[in-house]
Amino acid sequence: MAHLFNRNVLLGVSGGIAAYKSAELVRQLQQLGATVRVVMTRGAQEFITPLTLQALSGNPVHIELLDEQAEMGMGHIELARWADLLLIAPATADLIARLSAGRADDLLSTVALATAAPLMLAPAMNQQMWKDPATTANIDTLSFRGIRIIGPAAGQQACGDIGLGRMEDPSIIADAAACLFQNSHLAGKHIMITAGPTREALDPVRYISNNSSGKMGYALAAAAVDAGAITTLVSGPVTLKPPERIQFLSVQSAQQMLDQCIELIPECDIFIGCAAVADYRPTKMDNQKIKKNQAKMTLQLERNPDIISAVAASKHRPFTVGFAAETNNVIAYARDKMQRKGLDMMVANDVSNHTIGFNSDNNAVTVLWHDGENTLKLASKASIAQQIIHIIAHQTRQNS
Ligand code: PMT
Repeated sequence: MAHLFNRNVLLGVSGGIAAYKSAELVRQLQQLGATVRVVMTRGAQEFITPLTLQALSGNPVHIELLDEQAEMGMGHIELARWADLLLIAPATADLIARLSAGRADDLLSTVALATAAPLMLAPAMNQQMWKDPATTANIDTLSFRGIRIIGPAAGQQACGDIGLGRMEDPSIIADAAACLFQNSHLAGKHIMITAGPTREALDPVRYISNNSSGKMGYALAAAAVDAGAITTLVSGPVTLKPPERIQFLSVQSAQQMLDQCIELIPECDIFIGCAAVADYRPTKMDNQKIKKNQAKMTLQLERNPDIISAVAASKHRPFTVGFAAETNNVIAYARDKMQRKGLDMMVANDVSNHTIGFNSDNNAVTVLWHDGENTLKLASKASIAQQIIHIIAHQTRQNS
């Protein structure tokens, strides 16, 4: 069944009598697993209060384009980037006309222009307005741009007319939204993904580690499962909840991560090494807490095994994808690492920019393979993950 787990749905509500159905739509979207935020037009607030939609969605409702508070935290650009889907229900004739003209005269129409996420509309209006050639032309324009139109449904209208124009049932709209994300690019494939940092113990309470939050690797696991793959996530210690419907293996150290990967690699078709594996570990771990009785202390470290090189050199070698966290000469160093580690693909991540890379919600990367590359512009890690999975699916098909 289609679902919306790990999906951010931005619900736009415009001003028609069907706006009261948005409350039910929020629930339906949540039941399918979505995180929902709501943007309302001024007209919508005449039909349903922001408070209702705030209480149901569990998130503040966004109303003003020029709202100082909102611009600091979650302004139109942040909302546009946050969304995996912009769903406008109900979409009135006026809003449809404004979207068709590319106007940006309120928050909702501005977000619609600013987002790279797919856009879905559930029109609702009087049957005569729906039939009007101006509306038909606007709908044609929007459909031509790839915007999905759900409904309207036929039946008795609030104004007493009978005909096409009622907003489609919220459960049908929610299902259509979920179906948007269903794909089978990796159906039948087994993919293993490493995520998060590793911890290399010095003593029972201290360790060497790094700032990886696991967000990128977990987003990849969610995107892989959505693409139909049997997905195993091998994760270092992070605070994230693992995505639904995956095999989850929790590890601490690089050695444990290596052991898990090597055991399962013969079953895998694709491996993605997104974990920030500690390159070194203490030569010995003290069984007791180390006493601070010396003014200076020298740690002796030894190299950790290179997990992804071991995977790429294994007998049952999967299609192997690495991540290269670099601060300078990003593409050249990433390409060099891809060759040295014997990988099929490398995702170059510029970690000198703290708004992308370690512990950020967004990312921007360049995906490299032996005779090509693709730059993925700044977007949420969920969106970047979907694009990477798409490229991997394409490349594995080319190689098979
Ligand atoms: O977790 P987030 O906060 O979301 O941050 C995401 C990220 C920045 C950690 C991620 O996008 C990323 O760049 N991961 C790779 C980090 C890294 O260790 O890069 P590297 O250039 O040092 O390693 C290159 C490749 O070798 C990686 O695929 C790494 O998993 C692998 N490696 C490294 C060392 C080692 N001992 N074993 C390995 O398998």
